[in-house]
Amino acid sequence: MSKPALSSTSIPISRVCAQVQTNGHSVPTHVAIIMDGNGRWARRRGLPRIEGHREGTRNVSRILDALGKHGIPYATFFAFSTENWNRPRVEVQAIMTILEETIDKETPTLVEKNVCFRYLGRTDRLTPQLRNAITRVLELTKNNTGLTLSVALDYGGRDEILQAVRQIASDGVPPEQIDGELLQRYLYTHDVPDPDLIVRTAGEHRLSNFLVWQSVYSEYYSSQVCWPDFDEAELAKALRAFSQRKRRFGALPPEE
Ligand code: IPE
Ligand code: IPE
Ligand code: MG
Repeated sequence: MSKPALSSTSIPISRVCAQVQTNGHSVPTHVAIIMDGNGRWARRRGLPRIEGHREGTRNVSRILDALGKHGIPYATFFAFSTENWNRPRVEVQAIMTILEETIDKETPTLVEKNVCFRYLGRTDRLTPQLRNAITRVLELTKNNTGLTLSVALDYGGRDEILQAVRQIASDGVPPEQIDGELLQRYLYTHDVPDPDLIVRTAGEHRLSNFLVWQSVYSEYYSSQVCWPDFDEAELAKALRAFSQRKRRFGALPPEE
């Protein structure tokens, strides 16, 4: 099938038309999740916010398994944004400890399940313990060929674009060589397709600086459920909604 010529500012079709057809239903290749509502989940139970973060972090492996069952090859979870540093110090420290413990604890399971771990975000502001846990899981899963799990931590979409631009400038790339394809190669997500579906929990309808460059043609789904309660059934609802969307990428479908 011949593809139309794309200008250097267009989005390559291969990156935005990633979804596959399974039994007549459209299944996303890449599902990205904004895991929101941990604090509200805890408050409603009279628990400290930290307990919401703990339960929310536990939920990642459950949903990862569910995504695997649906045959989805790429999953991204937004764990901590560049703006989340503005939260009280005790909450930030507790989140960092929970993440470090969870990554350490889950590493053998990820290895066993053939999951390839990817990290999206800055690492210079993390605790050395968390940085070590990340380095270890990256190393131990780098040759795995199953589901690609990206964790966005100290991640901000604008920050990602800025660091890419700085790196392009410091590499001395001539301006005429800078196009969308080149910029993409400098992003944290350089070897991950753009997300087909972005799910946000806890009823919010914002991106909050998540995958700013990559989400231009993503489908959005907002679930009312707080992240720790987001289960297989909720995921199935999101996937069903996605399968009914008509994606056009600015063009017209053949029948029109
Ligand atoms: C998401 O849950 C986790 C992080 C942003 C780290 P929240 O902590 O934002 O939960 P709410 O939005 O206050 O309920
Ligand atoms: C977005 O949630 C970031 C993560 C889920 C990690 P926030 O709770 O930080 O977003 P806002 O502040 O409601 O936009
Ligand atoms: Mg929130």
